[in-house]
Amino acid sequence: MKSQTQNVRSFYDKDSKRYRDDRYDGEGCEQFSYRSRTGIALEMLQGTSGRTLDVGCGPAIYTRSLSELGHRPVSADLSIEMLKHARTLAGPLPGASWANSEVEKLPFRDASFDNVLAIGVLAYASDTLSALTELARVLKPGGTLITQCSNTLAPAPRLVKLKDKALQALGLREKPAYGFRMAAHSRAAFLELVHRAGLEPLEARSYAFRLPFLEKFFPGAALRIMKIGHDAFSNSRVFHWLGEGYMVKARKNGRPL
Ligand SMILES: C[S@@+](CC[C@H](N)C(=O)[O-])C[C@H]1O[C@@H](n2cnc3c(N)ncnc32)[C@H](O)[C@@H]1O
Repeated sequence: MKSQTQNVRSFYDKDSKRYRDDRYDGEGCEQFSYRSRTGIALEMLQGTSGRTLDVGCGPAIYTRSLSELGHRPVSADLSIEMLKHARTLAGPLPGASWANSEVEKLPFRDASFDNVLAIGVLAYASDTLSALTELARVLKPGGTLITQCSNTLAPAPRLVKLKDKALQALGLREKPAYGFRMAAHSRAAFLELVHRAGLEPLEARSYAFRLPFLEKFFPGAALRIMKIGHDAFSNSRVFHWLGEGYMVKARKNGRPL
């Protein structure tokens, strides 16, 4: 039987050419979610500089922006096909480099990066804390981590799951066979893991305030409400848990090198 890592790798090998078009290009709620998290990550990157590791880089979502911000990006991914496609999309960028590696076993020395970006990748790690600890290991003291996690408390995906389970129980839908599981945490539990990995959380912002059932029948209205939800709740202390995902900026403890 194939392992979680092998299944994730072959999923993204096959998805590499479609990933950017499906998730980012287009005016649907899905694409707005992905673009929202990118927007938050780029805002969180303001004021940072230096050598930056982008783990789970996918098809070079951040590579060009990192270069334009004056960073020296090192883009890493488990999927070779994703990396090949990423290199083509990014084109020649001075100072950029590429690595085929896993988030829990990074082939870099301790304290070798000023910043680490890990967006959309922790979900696939076998253990979130060990992945965060590995990310903290390669960060310099005082360095910045910008990462992302799916929110277990968000009501919309829970309702969708419930509906899918009911349809499966009635024999009206097959159970999807991805061959891998995806980890998610409540924001409070994730911030605790960040802290345990030796990082100090500085900021957290939520995104993807989706309305799945409305999305299906009235996509235009769902998108408009979602945009209002994003503006109103992304930074809210009270309603952030309505978002399907959140972004976290953290600093590695210790004095800067
Ligand atoms: C959901 S995509 C995220 C891509 C991009 N960072 C973004 O924000 O859109 C996940 C990416 O992480 C990679 N990936 C999945 N598991 C990984 C692991 N254990 N180590 C490194 N990369 C992994 C996949 O190959 C894929 O390119």
